[in-house]
Amino acid sequence: MILVTGGAGFIGANFVLDWLAGSDEPVLNLDKLTYAGNLYNLAALQDDARHVFVQGDIGDRALLDRLLAEHRPRAVVNFAAESHVDRSIHGPEDFIQTNVVGTFRLLEAVRHHWSGLPEAQRSAFRFLHVSTDEVYGTLEPEAPAFAETHNYQPNSPYSASKAASDHLVRAWHHTYGLPVLTTNCSNNYGPFHFPEKLIPLVIVNALAGKPLPIYGDGMQVRDWLYVRDHCSAIRRVLEAGLPGETYNVGGWNEKPNIEIVHTVCRLLDELRPRADGQSYSAQITHVTDRPGHDRRYAIDARKIERELGWRPAETFETGIRKTVQWYLEHPEWVAQVQSGAYREWVQKQYAA
Ligand code: NAD
Ligand code: DAU
Repeated sequence: MILVTGGAGFIGANFVLDWLAGSDEPVLNLDKLTYAGNLYNLAALQDDARHVFVQGDIGDRALLDRLLAEHRPRAVVNFAAESHVDRSIHGPEDFIQTNVVGTFRLLEAVRHHWSGLPEAQRSAFRFLHVSTDEVYGTLEPEAPAFAETHNYQPNSPYSASKAASDHLVRAWHHTYGLPVLTTNCSNNYGPFHFPEKLIPLVIVNALAGKPLPIYGDGMQVRDWLYVRDHCSAIRRVLEAGLPGETYNVGGWNEKPNIEIVHTVCRLLDELRPRADGQSYSAQITHVTDRPGHDRRYAIDARKIERELGWRPAETFETGIRKTVQWYLEHPEWVAQVQSGAYREWVQKQYAA
């Protein structure tokens, strides 16, 4: 089996669902269930014995030792993190605890487990660390996209904590030989995306008749990747990546935020027109910018294509249409997340 951490969050849940749709190899899913963790994302696996869920912290060494000894995973995929830049600005402490200290504890527990394995299992073992393009800092408008060799220049408490975790992962390979892989990915979007992030926030606010907040002038550029493409990239790196290597993962979809928001509004105008006949874009409101807001990210994803043959399957046009449709078809998910009722669902489901 594989151990997935943070598998009840946005990308982790998509990864677990995709993994079990394509393979019978069981998943041990360790997630603390912070505000961002939602077992309702995994409701389709409720009666599936291949999915073993444990509520717990990657910083809990005793729990990790017990789980690794009991389940003996052949690989670890580490999604667990505090992931929201704005929250990291308001309160960086949790980001240091989980992203830095938590990753350190996980690495140590995994190293202990890995070093006791028989040689064949030891060389086949993998620790895949899921990271972000934000560790590279910000780009000038015409600068080349981030390659894996780009300097680390993190600018927010979130990206600094992720950069620190990447350095720990690298050091555990260099010093102890732990067979690690690191992926640095651009902005994901798709089903189960928590509505604190731009795209789901815009969809749910638009439908609720609320303002669509654009930070500053809205000309900040991000590269957008459909989440299931990210999942297929991770599977490919896990299968064929070289230990010690890092792989940038992106969608070849650089766009300014304001264009993203207009695209979402146009799709909603088509699929769920406003009662008054006006466009949802009338709800766009420019608000105070994020402190230290990085102006541009762009990913050069040629290495993963050249060495591992991976390319995204979705264009932004196909991916964003699927995403808007998913939110329109899952109002109960949005309501659960917003009301906090999903926590009651967890209590009910896992009380025993
Ligand atoms: P998310 O916030 O939706 O989910 C994070 C999950 O981790 C949640 O289920 C949460 O309960 C769990 N978690 C938090 N602290 C934990 C702890 N101490 N122990 C165990 N579980 C814990 O995040 P996401 O958007 O799914 O991101 C997943 C990973 O991918 C993160 O490492 C993030 O840095 C990285 N990443 C995200 C994006 C993106 O666009 N969302 C892009 C690149 C990289
Ligand atoms: O680049 C990868 C990163 O993408 C991941 O590492 C992070 O975990 C993930 O949260 C995401 O970070 P961003 O800060 O780019 O995502 P967010 O959705 O918060 O913001 C996207 C852009 O939209 C960013 O430039 C800020 C802007 N924004 C965001 C919100 C929430 C707005 O203009 N208005 C908003 O209300």
